[in-house]
Amino acid sequence: MKPIKVGLLGLGTVGTGVVRIVEGHQEDLLRQTGSPIEIAKILVQDKAKSRNISVDPDKLTENAWDVINDSEIDVIVEVMGGVETTKEHILTALNNGKHIVTANKDLMALYGAEILERAAEKGCDVFYEASVAGGIPIIRTLVEGFSSDRITKIMGIVNGTTNYILTKMSQEGAAYADVLKEAQELGYAEADPTSDVEGLDAARKMTILSTLGFHANIALNDVEVKGISQVSKEDIQYGKKLGYEVKLLGIAESHDGHISVSVQPTMVKSSHPLAAVNGVFNAVYVTGEAVGETMFYGPGAGELPTATSVVADLVAVIRNLKLGVNGRTVLTPYKEKKLKTDEQ
Ligand code: NAP
Ligand code: HSE
Repeated sequence: MKPIKVGLLGLGTVGTGVVRIVEGHQEDLLRQTGSPIEIAKILVQDKAKSRNISVDPDKLTENAWDVINDSEIDVIVEVMGGVETTKEHILTALNNGKHIVTANKDLMALYGAEILERAAEKGCDVFYEASVAGGIPIIRTLVEGFSSDRITKIMGIVNGTTNYILTKMSQEGAAYADVLKEAQELGYAEADPTSDVEGLDAARKMTILSTLGFHANIALNDVEVKGISQVSKEDIQYGKKLGYEVKLLGIAESHDGHISVSVQPTMVKSSHPLAAVNGVFNAVYVTGEAVGETMFYGPGAGELPTATSVVADLVAVIRNLKLGVNGRTVLTPYKEKKLKTDEQ
């Protein structure tokens, strides 16, 4: 049986998880897709680096074009991070007719519209479930599960690193810097953790969620952002005494066609379900006109949870390939946005 050939860009935390799941779940994936999946080439920065997974060294390359221009590769799985160079890699891969799976919220929050437009022109899929809330299938849920409803509000704890830090500060009185180091060692934090702690990573994810949820053209610059670096143990303990937990909360609201999106440390009443979301776990609380209030919960970062979403996207791409169809996500937003800030 002819395998589907995958080019993997990146073999770090998430890339390692992708290899583990593709290899470890081979039989199940074959049953789901009807084709064996072969990771044919893997792009890394340094081939000589010691890794905690064993891969055929002949598959490793430090040259992106070896992967992107390989005519035998059907799907590119991008888990290397970065924005400008990565965007060029993805656009070239689409021009070469390759389907894309990515976990890259930095890229999708900034250039998602352009990438999805190119994909539509080329008849290719671009799926990016792992870009928001790691192991929670929230993009699929917003796009498919709520297609019949009008979403009015999305609240999210969408950064695992900061939730891990705030939880340890709240429950153990741990020091901010120590817990950040731990989160980095566990593979939760971004290469530059400033984007986690200053709220940018969560802002990127809220950009993606609000664009999809409200069918509007939300830009990263539209999001008001404040991170947790100024939150002290004292703030957290004081909040607890008053019956609140401090959470880095993304809040996106659509009211009478006006949209606001923000990310900031927020006092959440201890009785609210979001107050009980601890550690690396994320949760997205979605309110729809018809459905009412719903919440989706799960691990928001880390090797295997994130890779679960990446490989599920890969399965979706392969199923589409078999059916000769494309798509799951909306290709372009269809409503003009109006921001509350436009009126100030
Ligand atoms: P990581 O551990 O730093 O791994 C990055 C991998 O990409 C490494 O294998 C690195 O090669 C390779 N790489 C980076 N830049 C490269 C370049 N210019 N040329 C060639 N290879 C390059 O990162 P990660 O945590 O797996 O995250 C990857 C992506 O997934 C990011 O977009 C991140 O935001 C996203 N994401 C991560 C998580 C998570 O929990 N970690 C969750 C959701 C989404 P070397 O190994 O040789 O250094
Ligand atoms: N650094 C991110 C986080 C990884 O901590 O949530 C998952 O997107």
